[in-house]
Amino acid sequence: MRRRILTGMRPTGALHLGHYAGALENWVRLQDEYECFFLIADYQALGDHIDDIPRIRRSVVEVTLDWLAVRLDPEKSSFVVQSYVPEHAELALLLGTLVSLPRLQRNPTLKGEMGQFKAQEVTVTFFTYPVSQAADILLPKAHLVPVGEDQLPHIELTREVAGRFNRSYGEVFPIPEALVGRVPRLVGIDGQAKMSKSLDNAIYLSDPEEVVTEKVRRMYTDPTRIHPTDPGHVEGNPVFMYLDAFDPHADEVSELKERYRKGTVGDVEVKRILAQRLNELLEPIRERRRSYEQHPDLVREALLEGTKRHKAIAEETMREVRDGLHISQYV
Ligand code: TRP
Repeated sequence: MRRRILTGMRPTGALHLGHYAGALENWVRLQDEYECFFLIADYQALGDHIDDIPRIRRSVVEVTLDWLAVRLDPEKSSFVVQSYVPEHAELALLLGTLVSLPRLQRNPTLKGEMGQFKAQEVTVTFFTYPVSQAADILLPKAHLVPVGEDQLPHIELTREVAGRFNRSYGEVFPIPEALVGRVPRLVGIDGQAKMSKSLDNAIYLSDPEEVVTEKVRRMYTDPTRIHPTDPGHVEGNPVFMYLDAFDPHADEVSELKERYRKGTVGDVEVKRILAQRLNELLEPIRERRRSYEQHPDLVREALLEGTKRHKAIAEETMREVRDGLHISQYV
């Protein structure tokens, strides 16, 4: 039997290069070796976007289009809509009994995210999303969870919860492991630590060629460099981080770095090459996305078929969980 993977994304907008380098590229490769479940985590998105349901609704389709466009294959793998399998909610509630309040309050990723809201805006569902995420992972009994670096505390929590359940209520869950992608975190085009929709510093997989070129032209680069003949800084320079991440020609990149350091190539030229490489990467993705946009029936079928396969497994897991807790046998 192939080992299982579960991973997912929150449907809050179209996907960008950060998602590609940090997750999607890796997921596409893993599909052949593992039985994969790719989750559209709409419960999780509702936890902090309950006032913008149209956005979530739109984004479920956007994310699915992006997944199909990068060649996640709904026949090899299962695309799953979280809320179509309410067993997610049931398992999250039950696992919540195994997690103490301070344990959750210490979660560094959650802490950071909550810091971005006013305290009175943090919903209970948002606060408990790491527990819900543990349920996502454990419901199909996943062995491996490919995620970005920021998600590691959630995987650690999942491992603890699974171990605690197994010891007290019966061996139900494998202890899952995290798998971090090639580029754990991609900087934004403005040089901020993370590419994200909310920071408005992203290049989207669906951006047309001209938009990509224009965004690269405006990209933050070495601020100490005034003239193209000044020696430039490569380390920490987003333009070179992107070249490292996306230019498949390593020799081209190392030559550019050398010339940049010496002051024999300007930002305009380096950015021109970067834009070209990004567009080469994105063009086939844009093309496949356009073709799926013409076939909403395929998008729908991908979601419904994958969800159906997952649901059968989820029902079986929940039988074991209820039995372990004796909640199916009161009378
Ligand atoms: N929290 C993840 C993110 O924001 C999305 C997610 C939901 C997820 N459930 C998951 C990731 C389960 C891995 C496993 O990207």
